Amino acid sequence: MIRELWILFLCFQTLFCNSYCDLSLNTVTKCSAPGLKAPKKLWWAKELTPDLHVAGGLTEVQIKQIADGGFKSIISLFIDTRHGDFGGEYLPTAFEAKHIAKISRLQYEAVLADDEEWASVEAVAKLTAAIDKLPKPILLHCNRAYTITFTTLMYLANASRHDASFTPQVNSEKFYKMCEHLGFDFTNDTLKAVVSEITGEPAVKNPPLPNAVPDDWLDYWLGHPIYINWYSAGQIRKGHIQELEFIGFKSVINMRQGTTSNGNPSQETVTLINIKDGTPTYDKDLKPLRQLDSNLKTLIIDSKKEPNYISPTSEVNYERRNFAEWGDDIGYNQDLQEADFKDSEVNYYHLPIDSEVIYDKEVFGQYKDKLLEIGRQGPVLIHCASGKRVAFIGVLAAALQYEKNFDWALQRIAELGFEVSRTKNRDVYEMYSAWLSPDHGNKTEL
Ligand SMILES: *[C@@H]1O[C@H](CO)[C@@H](O)[C@H](O)[C@H]1NC(C)=O
Ligand SMILES: *[C@@H]1O[C@H](CO)[C@@H](O)[C@H](O)[C@H]1NC(C)=O
Ligand SMILES: *[C@@H]1O[C@H](CO)[C@@H](O)[C@H](O)[C@H]1NC(C)=O
Repeated sequence: MIRELWILFLCFQTLFCNSYCDLSLNTVTKCSAPGLKAPKKLWWAKELTPDLHVAGGLTEVQIKQIADGGFKSIISLFIDTRHGDFGGEYLPTAFEAKHIAKISRLQYEAVLADDEEWASVEAVAKLTAAIDKLPKPILLHCNRAYTITFTTLMYLANASRHDASFTPQVNSEKFYKMCEHLGFDFTNDTLKAVVSEITGEPAVKNPPLPNAVPDDWLDYWLGHPIYINWYSAGQIRKGHIQELEFIGFKSVINMRQGTTSNGNPSQETVTLINIKDGTPTYDKDLKPLRQLDSNLKTLIIDSKKEPNYISPTSEVNYERRNFAEWGDDIGYNQDLQEADFKDSEVNYYHLPIDSEVIYDKEVFGQYKDKLLEIGRQGPVLIHCASGKRVAFIGVLAAALQYEKNFDWALQRIAELGFEVSRTKNRDVYEMYSAWLSPDHGNKTEL
């Protein structure tokens, strides 16, 4: 009987499980694509577990996006008494954030005093109490997603140590691998001692170091490090240009559609608060549809929200335009974004790909030389709407630049939240296999 079951199991494995199942990922659990139910709004949220995602300093808009995306609660690691600024946008104090969270129908907790030590067992215990108390999923944040990632992973490690049935089980090895994947360096002696105290394991001698450059890329914590100088992102905002320039990003690549494509209007959509993402910009006659009030009324996420969810003077409970993401009266307008980059030291490249494209060798091939040329110039942020197209393309570009093989690409894309296998995203799988050899570096000569 046992033998029969075993054979059955093996058959299932070969049927449904090809190389994807063999990958050993550096993440603490298999990740989904970033952003819960609203990837276009929440592409910057970093998933640690399905219930716990982390982020840096939040604007008022981001708190509302967190509500739109299906989170139930927000935890701020610090009780911020001073407000902040990100790209010219106001970062509310904890007191103000709590108020915005309430209008957004979210639970909100702030945990440590402004100047309290975060790298400590006491801080982890306080965070544990907050996590246990709040409805999930929870978005946890600090200023640059750094301290909150450490403390939240330590929460998981402590819970694992006290409860063998807790999932995911996190020990110090898993912890450091996850941090390497996320591009965070927690390897100094002070932090090692805390890790050892929480896990009950000896301090790890040579933990893996993240490879993301530059070190202060974290000042743009919203990006997802792919490998060394490659970062993926969803739609950035006007104010982000100055932040990227300040850190030293050399290039931004935009893979969203422009205003026209093959002579037809092709504007993508912008995100709007309390409006569902992913509905078409145009009707069947290619007339603008999405941002008509009559259409928007049918796309409301939560009809119970009050108009003050949008602004104190709004008459409706949904947003109609999004100028901060270069929206116009129809949708997302690439021309406006391109014009704003003219005054910046960051090089801007528009290399569009249709979001519905079937990937093949040529989809990448048309841009390959350009991508590798840009990659050699320094840190590059490659963005689309939700970060999906650019994760597929960016992993392949980084693989070719650094002579990584096919298996590396499959592992990296899975760690970024996208399964690529013979059964999922098979077109991307074929594209990768066309450009990367299975056992050694790139095969650019093909
Ligand atoms: C570790 O977990 C135990 C059991 O849940 C809890 O009582 C304790 O406060 C936690 N310690 C820390 C440092 O989080
Ligand atoms: C280790 O890093 C933490 C966080 O950046 C810092 O607070 C601490 O002082 C550092 N310790 C050492 C020994 O460098
Ligand atoms: C990979 O590509 C680089 C430049 O694009 C080239 O110099 C190198 O020889 C290639 N490696 C292999 C193994 O084909």
